[in-house]
Amino acid sequence: MCPDQLDPEIIKQDFPIFKRRVYGKPLIYLDNAATTQKPRQVVEAIREFYENYNANVHRGVYKLSVEATEAFENARAKVAKFINAKDSEIVFTKNATEALNLVAYSWGLCNLKRGDRILLTEMEHHSNIVPWQLVAKHTGAVVDYIPINEDGLLVDEDVDRLLNLGPKIVSITQASNVLGTINNVKEIVGKAHRVGAITVVDAAQSVPHMQVDVKDLDCDFLAFSGHKALGPLGVGVLYGKRDLLKEMNPFLGGGDMISRVSLSGAEWNELPWKFEAGTSSVADVIGLGAAVDYLNSLGMGRVRAHEVKLTEYALKRLSEISDIRIYGPMDLDKRGAVISFNLSSIHPHDLATILDEEGIAIRAGHHCAMPLMTKLGVTATARASFYIYNSETDIDVLVEGLYKARRIFKL
Ligand code: ALA
Repeated sequence: MCPDQLDPEIIKQDFPIFKRRVYGKPLIYLDNAATTQKPRQVVEAIREFYENYNANVHRGVYKLSVEATEAFENARAKVAKFINAKDSEIVFTKNATEALNLVAYSWGLCNLKRGDRILLTEMEHHSNIVPWQLVAKHTGAVVDYIPINEDGLLVDEDVDRLLNLGPKIVSITQASNVLGTINNVKEIVGKAHRVGAITVVDAAQSVPHMQVDVKDLDCDFLAFSGHKALGPLGVGVLYGKRDLLKEMNPFLGGGDMISRVSLSGAEWNELPWKFEAGTSSVADVIGLGAAVDYLNSLGMGRVRAHEVKLTEYALKRLSEISDIRIYGPMDLDKRGAVISFNLSSIHPHDLATILDEEGIAIRAGHHCAMPLMTKLGVTATARASFYIYNSETDIDVLVEGLYKARRIFKL
């Protein structure tokens, strides 16, 4: 094995969950787009916090609280560096959904008015649709969607046509959780800025899988979840350009986000704490810091290269199965390690149940992207999504499982 390549068998040793058996079989975990497994290093960072220095942050002058605050802010610095942002531009939220809601409410409610346009794409998941629909209802703004073509790609002419309508905000996914499509967000952000729009990138499916540099993208906001990037459930990240965050109203009110409160009003804390009301999920933020360390130790270039190799192999093996329909682009430069498919007339839930009996975890359903399902003309798909600990052997087991499903359904 070339040392430049990730070795999933070695990586698996860091993930205690792979010791367990499912119905007596090894766990083949292929639902990484929903959440990833956690390495020992992340679990230990969280355990260490609770066992050694559990205290609230930004409040106490005693040693435990000082240590907790240092670790919390140190994790923020790691996350900032990971995506090439400044510490004050990183806001911790509950998840990517909350981060997107924060922008929709704090920026959208104050800056959008009747008739203004919000531009999304047809491949967004609900977290990057519903908040904008809610804000549109409050403000009278209109939501437009850039269509996808048959390969699950955005077409330049459509992007340009809809940008020419002059949207105030453009919010798009960098990588689709259903189609795997990787959008050229840098180009779209540039075009959106030229028509005066603010830009938001949903990076939930990209930050864990490739090098993402917010300065290079020049996006105004970017959101992702920690739990899809080896971190714990319960922490998400919003990146925002300082000037924009500064002029926005807070999203939630409460402790920590204020500098002064009287019975007649309040003044806001400095960035980024202005947007972190109440006690944060401190242990989870520290765990996310450990996840970032782990990903840095692998190198995001190697993570992406591993996933491209797996995706190439998976597309080849899956395409060999008769009556399979694979969604999304086949061009590896334009897609991530998420493959949605349907097999003949077998319902995806039946497929997932049959695969489960083999110890294989995939997701079946609408993947929180019902408008995209409508566009594809289906109610659901099966979806396999890969990560650093998956191997070609996992894909072989998946393909065997799909042949078993064909036999059960007498196809
Ligand atoms: N959006 C997440 C997924 O694709 C929940 O599974």
